[in-house]
Amino acid sequence: MKKSISIILVLFVSILLIFLFDIKNSTSLNYPKYFPKIEYDLSKNPINKDKIELGKILFYDPILSKNNQISCASCHSSYNAFAHTDHKLSHGINDEIGIRNAPALFNLAWQKEFMWDGAINHLDMQALAPINSEIEMGENTRNLISKLQKTNYYPELFYSAFGDSIIKTEYLLKSLSQFQLTLISSNSKYDSVIKGEAKFSDKEKRGHELFKNNCNSCHTEPMFTNYEYKKNGIKEDSILKDFGRYNITENINDKYLFKVPSLRNLKYSYPYMHDGRFEKLQFVINHYSEINIDNNLIHLNNKEKVDLTAFLLTLNDKEFTLNKNHKFPLKLIETLYQ
Ligand code: HEC
Ligand code: HEC
Repeated sequence: MKKSISIILVLFVSILLIFLFDIKNSTSLNYPKYFPKIEYDLSKNPINKDKIELGKILFYDPILSKNNQISCASCHSSYNAFAHTDHKLSHGINDEIGIRNAPALFNLAWQKEFMWDGAINHLDMQALAPINSEIEMGENTRNLISKLQKTNYYPELFYSAFGDSIIKTEYLLKSLSQFQLTLISSNSKYDSVIKGEAKFSDKEKRGHELFKNNCNSCHTEPMFTNYEYKKNGIKEDSILKDFGRYNITENINDKYLFKVPSLRNLKYSYPYMHDGRFEKLQFVINHYSEINIDNNLIHLNNKEKVDLTAFLLTLNDKEFTLNKNHKFPLKLIETLYQ
């Protein structure tokens, strides 16, 4: 009788300890009240500090590529809101040139589909594409897992995060997602105005009105995208011949449709469009200044272009690009140079 009571007691205490340990490490995503509900199902991958940290280390580690030279961050730089600005099309392993412009990465928890054509419908699956792509990281998942397992630091990091030092693809993908889910951009001037902590200038106010009339149907506030696939009137690039959404659906009506990108952080994420054809925001505004899209006639005179640009610049979130939590993890330096 006594024995069984002590067994129950030990069980109870260990469950309590596990519970407390989980509480200590668990955390949640912080975002403003006026953001919509997130799409990512956190119950299937509960946010936890060790997993976020592991995801960050993986994101910055070139071990993810075949020649150990290209990391996710090679194409997605924190200083550029996790886009890439040196060239129009992404550059991967052995200087191979990709077919599309690397998009900025933020507010991914609200996105249901990924890539310019929506080829991927879950964030947890996304990383498989660059890792296994011949022109991006050129690795294969099985080989990568065995490379990680052979290091003398990753098994321990995976153990801390998942309670298992046998590394699995699932853990790799879930931790990469966790780090990327924490990339939330919500500290622009626009956000301060919404929160009542700042005011738009007259120019920005006029720009906001122009925005609501001409752009908001696709670049919908406050995420600045409606997450749909649309045509915005740019002409086909005759060399790339990128059919966009059609590549996925093979529906003729989807030819040349691309995912509507968010307009937050434009200052940092140039060049613009799926093929990086516009180097400057001014060129984008000129493109939209005299155009018929989605049966809407847009006409902007010079003064209106200036006002609209002033509004768009209120969407830049400098704090996001400087956030220390998103930068190269020091832990990785220790491991790379040990
Ligand atoms: C060689 C450059 C390159 C590398 C390396 C790279 N990416 Fe990307 N990334 C891109 C490009 C280009 C796209 C757009 C692809 C498309 O639309 O077909 C993209 C798209 C994405 C998207 C989708 C964003 C959206 O809004 O739809 C995510 C998320 C992402 N990358 C994360 C990662 C992660 C995680 C890694 C490392 C495992 C990584 N990338 C490695 C260039 C790269
Ligand atoms: C009918 C929907 C639609 C409307 C209206 C629209 N856009 Fe777009 N916009 C898009 C799509 C789709 C893309 C991506 C196109 C591509 O890459 O091929 C885009 C891309 C952009 C980009 C490039 C962003 C990046 O990260 O590459 C900017 C900037 C932009 N739009 C600004 C505006 C402004 C300003 C207005 C209003 C004057 C506007 N858009 C109206 C659909 C729209």
